[in-house]
Amino acid sequence: MFNRRYFLRSSLFSSLGLLAGRKVVAATPVQRPLVTGQPVVISTWDAGLAANKGAWEVLSRNGAALDAVEAGVKVTESSQNCCVGLGANPDRDGYVTLDASIMDHEWNCGAVGFLERIKHPISVARRVMEKTPHVMLVGVGAQQFAVAEGFPLEPAVLSDDAKKSYEKWLKKAEYKPVINIENHDTIGMVAMDAAGNLSGSCTTSGMGFKMRGRLGDSPIIGAGLFVDNEVGAVTATGQGEDVIRVCGSHSVVEYMRQGMSPEEACKAAVEKIARIKKEKAKDIQVAFIALNKKGETGSYALQKGFTYALRNNNEERMVEVKSYF
Ligand code: GLY
Repeated sequence: MFNRRYFLRSSLFSSLGLLAGRKVVAATPVQRPLVTGQPVVISTWDAGLAANKGAWEVLSRNGAALDAVEAGVKVTESSQNCCVGLGANPDRDGYVTLDASIMDHEWNCGAVGFLERIKHPISVARRVMEKTPHVMLVGVGAQQFAVAEGFPLEPAVLSDDAKKSYEKWLKKAEYKPVINIENHDTIGMVAMDAAGNLSGSCTTSGMGFKMRGRLGDSPIIGAGLFVDNEVGAVTATGQGEDVIRVCGSHSVVEYMRQGMSPEEACKAAVEKIARIKKEKAKDIQVAFIALNKKGETGSYALQKGFTYALRNNNEERMVEVKSYF
């Protein structure tokens, strides 16, 4: 894999060594104890159960967390889901546009936004991470890249369910940019593999009947998804605008770094959003799910009704989440 940061770092060290007229010896990397243990995967909402199954096929064979979080959310992207993949609800002009991001245990990350007619945006996000010197591609450029990478261009048609929902929405065509409990969204997934490495993925069609061109938090590293392999991995669901304004997933990781449990850290970020939104907080939903380096998981939501799916060696279940309201 092309590792730009490594390349830049080694070039800088080599140049400094040349300037000083002496041979540069690479510093011995700090040996951290390898945290090995029990693989675990969590993902948002009910669709997370099937997605976790996809991820577990990788994790249970000692596969990498990165491969697991890609395989897991591809299950949801392939399903007829209202809010993820090409079967999802369109924007207000009738087009399905998809956003996705992925991040591994070495600060590598990739994202796509406003991507049309590609079945697996998460895999395109991974290719952006692995095959380009960039983090994010959007729109026509992202689609051109995907096609050049061999992803088929799918027909521009709505699924039967999406067509019905869109026709119903068109009757009033009322623009209501709100993600609440009924109009939920996104699959976000974070996992730890048997080697103790963390990775995460997030993929969505965004807000139903949104303005054309609108991006939410899901493709934005630090907002919809963040992984710090020394601390934990976090993903978000809900009203993307409010996750972006607090760098939601990054904030939750930093709260865990300060010593909070995954649930306490998610709660702190949700409370911050509630403070900022004041009385408008009751109209929206935002939730985070978090996994720390010990394999502990936790979550917190603004509104009741949010659940996440958990899978490890001992259990496979939905977890009900505490909420601010
Ligand atoms: N959380 C997904 C979005 O706002 O688009």
